Amino acid sequence: MKKAFITGITGQDGSYLAEFLLEKGYEVYGLTRRTSTQNFARIESIIEHPNLHLLSGDLMDQHSITQALRDVMPDEVYNLAAQSFVKTSWDQPVLTGEVTAIGVTRVLEAVRLACPNAKVYQASSSEMFGRVREVPQSENTPFYPRSPYGVAKVYGHWITVNYRESYDIFAVSGILFNHESPRRGLEFVTRKISHAVARISLGLQDKVYLGNLDAKRDWGFAGDYVEAMWLMLQQDQPDDYVISTGETHSVREFLQKACEAAGIADWQSIVEIDERFMRPAEVDLLIGDSTKAQEKLGWKPRTSFDELVRKMVEADIEAERANADRK
Ligand code: NAP
Ligand code: GDD
Repeated sequence: MKKAFITGITGQDGSYLAEFLLEKGYEVYGLTRRTSTQNFARIESIIEHPNLHLLSGDLMDQHSITQALRDVMPDEVYNLAAQSFVKTSWDQPVLTGEVTAIGVTRVLEAVRLACPNAKVYQASSSEMFGRVREVPQSENTPFYPRSPYGVAKVYGHWITVNYRESYDIFAVSGILFNHESPRRGLEFVTRKISHAVARISLGLQDKVYLGNLDAKRDWGFAGDYVEAMWLMLQQDQPDDYVISTGETHSVREFLQKACEAAGIADWQSIVEIDERFMRPAEVDLLIGDSTKAQEKLGWKPRTSFDELVRKMVEADIEAERANADRK
C-alpha cells in the first residue's frame, strides 16, 4: 500500500486529493495545525476511514514537519498548505512569506533529511504570471507576480526546482489556474457569489457586494485538478506542468450564470460595487495553456464552466435550505 503525506488536508484541494488517494488504495497521512476550534468540515466524510491518519504540525515549525515525515516515511508528499487568499497577502505579507514561501523550503528540507526518495508535489499558482507577459500562459511564460502571495509562490516554485536540481529530489511544481468547488472558502469570489445568490434566491439576503467585475480567470473544478497532481508524481521524470481549462471568464459572467442557475432574472439588481474588495494591484487576465499536461500526463479538464457554476449554486441552495429547515 502506497503512503501519501498531504499538508493542507483540511483545505479545498486537500480534501478532494485525500478522497481521490483513498479511493486509489493509498494510506493517507494529513498534517493539520492546532486551532482553537476544529475545522475538519471538508474531511468529515472520510475522517473515520481506516486508511486516513492525521498528524499535528505547522508549516511555520520545521521540527514538526521533519518529525512527521520521519514517522510516516511516505512515498509521495503533496505540499498544499499555504496562506492562499491573495487579498489577505497585502494585510499579512510577512506571514504569507513565512508560510507560502519559506514553508516550502521547510517541507523540502524535511524531505531531504527524512525521506529523500519520496516524490514531492508543490502547489504553485497561475497568480505567478500576474501582469501576464503573454496570452495564454504556459510553462515557458515568464513570471510577473502582482501580490505578496504571488511573489511567495514564485519563491516556492524556484526553491522546488532548486531542490530537484541540487539534491536530485523528485520534486514537481504544478502551476494550477483557479479551481473552485462547493468546498471553496467563502472569501473567494466564486463561492462568495454562489453562496450569496443562493441566499438571495431563498429570500435570505438582498445584495452581494463585490470588487472588480472585469477581472478574468480560467476557472476549473477542483475535483478534476487533484487528479493532475497525482499524475505528475506517477511520471518517470520530475517536471513542471500548467493545469487549466484554456477558457477565461469575467467575474461579471460568473455572476450572470450564477443568477441564471438560481432563477434570478435581473442580476444587476442584486450587485453593489464595494471598494473594500478592490486590490492594490490586479491580475486582469489569466488563461492557461495546458497542452503539455494533456500530451504528457493524458490529463484534461472534465467539468465545463457552466457545470461548475451550476454545481456550486445548487450545492449552496441545498445547504441553505437545510439550514433554514433546522431553525
Ligand atoms: P485552502 O482551501 O485555503 O487550504 C489551505 C490549507 O493550508 C488549509 O488546510 C490550511 O489549514 C493549511 N494551512 C495554512 N497555513 C498553514 C500552516 N501554517 N501550517 C499548516 N497548514 C497550513 O487552499 P486550496 O484552495 O485548497 O489550495 C491548496 C494549495 O494550492 C495552496 O497552496 C494554494 O495556494 C494553491 N493553489 C490553489 C489554487 C486554487 O485555485 N484553489 C490555484 C493555484 C494554487 P487550516 O484549515 O487550518 O486553515
Ligand atoms: N475574493 C474576491 N472578493 N475577489 C473579487 C471580488 C470579491 O468581492 N470582486 C471581484 N473579485 C476579483 C478579484 O479582484 C480577482 O481578480 C478575482 O475576483 C478572483 O479573486 P479570488 O476568487 O479571491 O481568487 P484569486 O484569483 O485572487 O486567487 C485564487 O486563485 C489563485 C490561482 O490563480 C486563490 O485560490 C489562490 O490561492 C490561487 O493561487
